[in-house]
Parts: sequence; structure tokens; C-alpha cells
Amino acid sequence: MATDKTFYLETFGCQMNAHDSEKVIGTLEHEGYRQVTSEEDAGLILYNTCSIRDKAEQKVFNRLNDYKKLYKAGKRFGVLGCVAQQEGEKIFERAPYVSLVSGSASYRKLPEMLSRLEAGESRITGLDDRQTDEAFETEFTSRQNPYRGYITIIEGCDKFCAYCVVPYTRGKERSRTSTSVLEEARRITDAGYTEIQLLGQNVNSYSDPEGKRSFAELLAAVGEVPGIRRVRFTTSHPRDFTRDIVDVIDAVPTLCDHVHLPVQSGSSRVLKMMAREYTCEWYLERVEWVKAARRPISLSTDIIVGFPGETADDFIQTMDLLGQVQYDCVFGFKYSARPNTPALTMIDSIPEAEKAARLQVLLDRQREIQRVNYASHLGQVMEVMVEGHNPARGQVTGRSSQNKPVNFTSKQPIAPAPGSYAQVKITGTHPNSLVGEAV
Ligand code: SAH
Ligand code: SF4
Ligand code: F3S
Repeated sequence: MATDKTFYLETFGCQMNAHDSEKVIGTLEHEGYRQVTSEEDAGLILYNTCSIRDKAEQKVFNRLNDYKKLYKAGKRFGVLGCVAQQEGEKIFERAPYVSLVSGSASYRKLPEMLSRLEAGESRITGLDDRQTDEAFETEFTSRQNPYRGYITIIEGCDKFCAYCVVPYTRGKERSRTSTSVLEEARRITDAGYTEIQLLGQNVNSYSDPEGKRSFAELLAAVGEVPGIRRVRFTTSHPRDFTRDIVDVIDAVPTLCDHVHLPVQSGSSRVLKMMAREYTCEWYLERVEWVKAARRPISLSTDIIVGFPGETADDFIQTMDLLGQVQYDCVFGFKYSARPNTPALTMIDSIPEAEKAARLQVLLDRQREIQRVNYASHLGQVMEVMVEGHNPARGQVTGRSSQNKPVNFTSKQPIAPAPGSYAQVKITGTHPNSLVGEAV
């Protein structure tokens, strides 16, 4: 069967999904496919999906429905990522025009799955179970981010927090060798990238299969690759957050001044129900390590409000934690019941309106904290990596080492390119961004 070898790929979800897509695109290109920018122009339409919250499956089906008409025009559909792994063959029942369903742990089989698609097969699945040891390492990554080179160092999750789908959608934890991570870091810098972000659902649970380097040692080694100017890593799990990570940030100048350390709740009682395996006090000890560093390291976190059984008092404890830690950034979420998870059997008794109200209180409080925090940068000169431009405002957009967005004006006739660096004097502040001018 003659196949139109063009594809459209849209990505939802986290940075690991964004990076998986870079690898999927590279693999497809190696198989002779060409990426196009609209569903209408594509022979193959792919959605790389996320199922972390809300009615994620529903969103995917709505999206598929929107474009179902294109199926009649001979187009093929594929669902990749976490919803694919979660829903599996059920997707074919609900959306019969879908021909390919593959979770991330099966992407290494993409070339084979594509040949079957080209041969006219219509129910192709890549649904390795949780126990798979396979990871998706490819030399064909097609990097889409112009300034940040992603490297996945550990896939999957073994933590099984009560609310979370990731252990079911991404499989068990498996780390790459530090040798292969460092080789990729060198290839990326040779290609011109100066910022690397190491990725993992629990990046600091990294365990080198060769036993050569701990996570902190790997961080240091990546930071010392010639040509690197910035190294980031996400997401750190408090359970595996060791003091040597802070020591290495202090010791290696290329490691960014930022740690994302999701806490989820300020109540040890709720943390226990969530199966996070730490108490609030235990978490705060890690925060103290970060705050005691020689350089100012910014701290960000994720918080879930309205977990089943969270009382008004539990929520107050989360607010107290916010006041105590003074985070630089907080991502707040309303608890959302997910398929397969243990929390699904707990009574989700908190009304949606109450969850929304708690989230609003949390975000308002954090806004005030950030107003003060961001204002403390006024007058400072900081290095900003350029990410893009906002022509309407005549501003260049970028980020500080602390991961704070900085919008600045530049007197240069040609705006600095994404991936370049500027020294910026901070002249104004907002709760979520800094404003300045290049010096
Ligand atoms: N591995 C990371 C988090 C990955 S998911 C960690 O453990 O810290 C990103 C964030 O989504 C989580 O930190 C959590 O705050 C949120 N999240 C995950 N499942 C959720 C759910 N069922 N409802 C609401 N928020 C959820
Ligand atoms: Fe989900 Fe918990 Fe694993 Fe994070 S550590 S991905 S929240 S199960
Ligand atoms: Fe979403 Fe899967 Fe990432 S559920 S957040 S895309 S690991």
C-alpha cells in the first residue's frame, strides 16, 4: 500500500513527553517520514498524550473526534504516550479509526510498527508491561527545543504515590549508564547546545547500571563537559534527595541555582495517605540543606490540594509550609482521581468547589510570597539565557539560572538569538517574572 510519508505530531504533558517526541520525530525521519505542521497536510496524525490529571482520556478522544473526518481522506491515526499505555486496546473500540497505540516503553519498536502500518495493518499496539527493562535510546533524536538539550537519564517510577498514574503508564524505574549519558551530553554540546536538562520522573533516584557514578557525581560530570554553561535537572523526589546534591551545586558553577522538590502537602498525615514516604519535618530538613548552600538556590514545588480526607486543618498546615519555605515558584493542582491508582478507592469527599477554593487560597498566598521574593532582585545584574522574543512589547524573553522568567530590552540592532546569553540589570518585578535591560 502506498503511504503518504508525512506526519503531524502534537505533544501533551511533561518534559519527558516533550523529549520522547523529539526522539519519535527523529526515528520517523530516519524511516523516511517528513514532519508537517497541520493535521490536514499529514498522512499520519500522532498524539503523544498525558494522563496525569483531569479527564485526560476524554480530551484525547475529543481531539481525535475533531479530526475523525480526515480518516476518510485516507489518513492514519496513532496515539502515543501515557493515555495510550493506560487505555491500551480500548482506544480501538472507542476510536476505530486509530491504527496505532503505543506507550513510551515500546518506542524502540516504532520502526517495526511503522512498517506494519505501511503494510495496511490497522490495530498495531506497543504496550510493554510495567516490568520491561527496555528503554528508548536512539541516535536519531530530532531536537525541537532551540536552546535546551534534554537527556532522559532514568525512565519510569517505582514510588507508587497513591494518587499517581505514572508507575502504571511509564513502567518500572530503569537508569541509563552514566557513560552513555555523558556521551550524549558531549554530542549535544558539539551540536551547539550550552544548556542541558537531565530528566526523570524521579531524576535523583538515578542508579548507574555500571555503578560508576551516583546522581550527584553524574551531575558534576555533566557540568564539567566542555562547552556546557547550564545544567538543570527535574524532578527530584524528596525521598532520594541527598545532601551531596547541594554540595555539588555549590562546587560546580555550571549547575543552575534551582531545585524543584515537590512536597505535595504540608501535612504529614496527608503525606502518609499519599504514600509519599516522608514527613513534613523530614522534607523541611532537605529544604534547610538547600537554604544553607553557599549560593542562593531557588526552590520550587508541586502541591496537590483536596486529596481524599484532607481536612481544613491539613490544608492550613500546607499554607504554613508555604510561609516557612518561601518557595520561588509553586505549581498547585486540585486532586484528580486517576484510573488504577490506590486513591481511587478512597472516598473523594471534598467537593470540587472546596478544592477550587483551597487552590485559590494557596495561589493567592504564593503570589504574595513571590511578590516579595522577586522584588528582592531589583537592581541586580544577572545572566539570562535568551529563549525568544516578544515583538509586540519589543522585549527579549529568557530565564535566569534560578529559572525565573526575565523579559528585557536590548539596544542591539539584531535581537539576541535563542540560546545566547545576556547580562541583564533588573529594573522591575512582577510576582511571576522580572523585567530588565541588557547591560
Ligand atoms: N515524579 C514527580 C511528579 C510527577 S507528576 C514527583 O514525584 O514529584 C507532576 C505533578 O503532578 C506531581 O508532583 C503532582 O503534584 C501532580 N499530580 C500527579 N498526580 C496527580 C493527581 N492525580 N491529581 C492532581 N495532581 C497530580
Ligand atoms: Fe507519581 Fe509519586 Fe512517581 Fe512522582 S514519585 S511520578 S508523584 S508515583
Ligand atoms: Fe503526563 Fe505521562 Fe508525563 S502522565 S506528566 S506525560 S509521565
